[in-house]
Amino acid sequence: MKVQVHHRFTPGLPEDDDHPYRSGAWRPQHVEYDAWDLDVEGEVPRDLAGVYLRNTENPLFEPIKRYHPFDGDGMLHSISFEEGQTRYANRFVRTDGFAAEQEARQSLWAGITEHPSNAVAEQGWGARTLLKDTASTDVIVHGGVALASFYQCGELYRLDPLSLEDRGKSTWSGAFPREGVSAHPKVDEHTGELLFFNYGLEAPHMHYGVVDRTGERVHYMDVPLPGPRLPHDMAFTERYVVLNDLPLYWDPEALAAGHYSNRFYRDQPSRFAVVPRRGTTEEIRWFEADPTFVLHFANAYEEGNKVVLDGYFQHNPTAKGVQRADARYKGFETLDVNVLEARAHRWVFDLDTGETTETPLSENFAEFPMVNGRHAGRRHRYLYSARCCRGLFAFDGLYKHDVESGTEDLYEVPKGVFISETVMAPRLGSTAEDDGYLLTFASDLGADRSDCWIFDASDPTHGPIARVRLPERISSGTHATWAPLSDL
Ligand SMILES: [Fe+2]
Repeated sequence: MKVQVHHRFTPGLPEDDDHPYRSGAWRPQHVEYDAWDLDVEGEVPRDLAGVYLRNTENPLFEPIKRYHPFDGDGMLHSISFEEGQTRYANRFVRTDGFAAEQEARQSLWAGITEHPSNAVAEQGWGARTLLKDTASTDVIVHGGVALASFYQCGELYRLDPLSLEDRGKSTWSGAFPREGVSAHPKVDEHTGELLFFNYGLEAPHMHYGVVDRTGERVHYMDVPLPGPRLPHDMAFTERYVVLNDLPLYWDPEALAAGHYSNRFYRDQPSRFAVVPRRGTTEEIRWFEADPTFVLHFANAYEEGNKVVLDGYFQHNPTAKGVQRADARYKGFETLDVNVLEARAHRWVFDLDTGETTETPLSENFAEFPMVNGRHAGRRHRYLYSARCCRGLFAFDGLYKHDVESGTEDLYEVPKGVFISETVMAPRLGSTAEDDGYLLTFASDLGADRSDCWIFDASDPTHGPIARVRLPERISSGTHATWAPLSDL
């Protein structure tokens, strides 16, 4: 492996840090590398061509009061493959907040589990406002550029997907919304469009829009909601997008007193909006369903005049009845998908009758789903998702779920190893949906190393077919994406 250090940051964190999300699988990384000709166990397939990008949270300074993993600064990891050759880079996303805190050498914004009045900074981002936009939640590739996003609405930070060179912020020729963009904008590989929404405290509380492949905003509309909500994800089909108004949101009474306290209203239905992709507010169709909160949707598609939506239904979205181990770690119990009881679930919205039917797809707790990107918005058969550790936001298993046969295969990661959100990379020239590879970053705490593992997507239960070494063990994090070389 050939390695060059690009930059070494000096953190202002305790030497013997024992915070569960700044140690172990979540030990932050502060060195930026460029590496190539990476060491490989096994063989990198020559028909794997593209880039696997992952976003991670890496705090640099002690919090003002209380650290939550979503407060950490975004760092992207890029590993690319072409004709068996490998290249790697990692970079902090140079957000405005990152630059300001580097200058001040301290945290300036209150974290998501702190009261906003703790902030030193006077301006901020996020649906609740006055948060630091860490750009640490998701990463996608649109128009050949990697975009890093923030979970509660913010900027889209642009980076070269291979070198991770900073390319500034998305402006959409001056049409980037002042409310920002939520964590999970979607790219339709077939049209090159970016579909997005945002949400906030002010009416209409949600907007939806479309950006074309050249980066021009070509559609933007109000999606009026009854009050401030906390939608995290969306889905799309060839003709529609599916947005949501779910009964987990900030308690309005607490909100009036300036507190952001999530509450689940079990007596209120979930509501899903089916909207033509270039539709109007008047064309929104609302469908009701059983109360839940959904962090992530896997995919949606049309079947005649029905819209099929697969996602992860939470049975206990506020971790009711679950005691936290330590009062310092308020809110961490809802980071455990096993506590939330999140299971694969299917909603079908009938556009003729206005009725919803819904069916559980699995008994197993899982989340962070991925489909073959060519099937996004189109009918899919396979979902790949993560099994989560108990008591820690980290992944220790990989599911391949066949929604047609109803079978689910599990690859269990060896003890002490944690994987990341796994992506599906179609093989060059592939035609079958699962003809390709699954890629994930695996961190082995015992060996203190990280590798990119490559699986055969047709049967991941056999384990990795290749392990590609990274220069340093990386922190756990949130989302990841795959972009084929042809899209770069
Ligand atoms: Fe997410």
